[in-house]
Amino acid sequence: MNMLPVMDNALQVDIVKHGLNWSLFGSNMIFEQKVASTNTLAKELAASGAPSGTLVVAEEQSAGKGRLGRKWLSPPGANLLFSVMLRPHVRTDEVFQLTMAMALAAIAGISETCGIHPMIKWPNDLYAHDKKLGGMLSEFCARDKFVEYVIIGLGLNVNWNPETRQLAGYTATSLRAETGLKISREDLLVGILKIFDSYYNDVLAGNLEDYYEKWNRSSMLNGRRVKLRTPTQRMYGKVIRIDRNGALIILDNKGRERIILSAEISLDGIDDEALGNGTTP
Ligand code: BTN
Repeated sequence: MNMLPVMDNALQVDIVKHGLNWSLFGSNMIFEQKVASTNTLAKELAASGAPSGTLVVAEEQSAGKGRLGRKWLSPPGANLLFSVMLRPHVRTDEVFQLTMAMALAAIAGISETCGIHPMIKWPNDLYAHDKKLGGMLSEFCARDKFVEYVIIGLGLNVNWNPETRQLAGYTATSLRAETGLKISREDLLVGILKIFDSYYNDVLAGNLEDYYEKWNRSSMLNGRRVKLRTPTQRMYGKVIRIDRNGALIILDNKGRERIILSAEISLDGIDDEALGNGTTP
């Protein structure tokens, strides 16, 4: 893959360690120059008994994973690529609550650090002005109906110059492109994870009301016409809301309410194939 390197400053690991010292993520932080995928490494660590709150951060991934078997591409040294591993006592059908919490923490962290408020494109993407800023990939291991561990990976375009994004498709953007400012990746990472630490406690305590509301307020799809693709069908509809099970509720062309648990969504005017960060189908 012919990605142009970005010679930004290396991540200042000490700043991140210091910032997260007393948080859930303070006890087992792993920083790597290059890994296949931070999610994969986090999974391996989980399987060998790593504690809940393990954090894996990398400057570069050789096999970064996106949703639906796609690749996640990011030039080295410019963006944020990290995964957290958690061992919550939750059912597998509640895992989406953790992804929701990470999306909202990312939005709050970005807003604090960069002064912009990205939106969520259900289920797992972050967008700014209809361009993709980042994406999340959650993976879990379960026994019976309960989670043994869950990995939440976030890839965020931070200081990547969109001029180098030919491979990424024209819908990608970065925080630098949106703000015109070089962003401190350390402050951003610490900010997001501190906020997530507190949101995570709320999720575990079942205090979800505010989060569902925030999720809907931050949903860029609500009220918009979309095209949906599932493994078995394609349909058009207008998005009404995201419900408490994490499903997308849409009104289809025949005026029927439909509950969508999983689908590829494209918006009018945005080419589905170009969505993502150089993702390849
Ligand atoms: C998507 O938009 O399809 C989700 C992208 C998730 C990418 C992140 S980068 C850090 C973590 N490690 C991976 O291999 N994937 C996630």
